[in-house]
Amino acid sequence: MNRRRSILLLVTFVAALGAVWLGWKISPLRHQEAAQETSLIGGPFQLVDQNGRAVDQGVLKGKWSAVFFGFTYCPDVCPGTLQALNAAADQLGGEARDFQIVFISVDPDRDTPAQVKTYLEGQNLRPGTLGLSGTREQVDAVAKAYRVYYEKAGEGEDYTVNHTSTVYLMNPRGGFDRPLSYGLTPEQMAEQIEKAMAG
Ligand code: NI
Repeated sequence: MNRRRSILLLVTFVAALGAVWLGWKISPLRHQEAAQETSLIGGPFQLVDQNGRAVDQGVLKGKWSAVFFGFTYCPDVCPGTLQALNAAADQLGGEARDFQIVFISVDPDRDTPAQVKTYLEGQNLRPGTLGLSGTREQVDAVAKAYRVYYEKAGEGEDYTVNHTSTVYLMNPRGGFDRPLSYGLTPEQMAEQIEKAMAG
């Protein structure tokens, strides 16, 4: 083996070692990032509440929030979920003052702040319940942040909007704590909220 050849072999060997080391070094980081990404539900948003006030993610601070995406023309899932959350809040007793319901419309074409206000009043929900709406861009952004799916279905004025029915329970720092799955009874919801509050 001549000198040139042995140098080449050495360089190849060191390069291979380097590649193995780099792969080992990078791969756990990648997994961590992916895991963090899936648990990252929520984030900044710009919307308008039912009184026409511009709001952002700051409305979540200081309270446990049940964040729920839907639309006011929804025939069953949305009213049912809002009523269940309202009944769950009634069961929280004194802790209910640290809890709020945040409804976010995914129907920017029909759900103006005034429409959301009328809807929430008709649902007879507890005071402090927030109903947020926004432009399509704003709604797209908040839906993306919460990993929420929504899609307009049907033609004409009577279209419907298919949407994720999971409720996101957010902690008083605005971070995701746990999902409240569709179909839970108010008792089961209250139990989950109490567990979350207890830490
Ligand atoms: Ni709905």
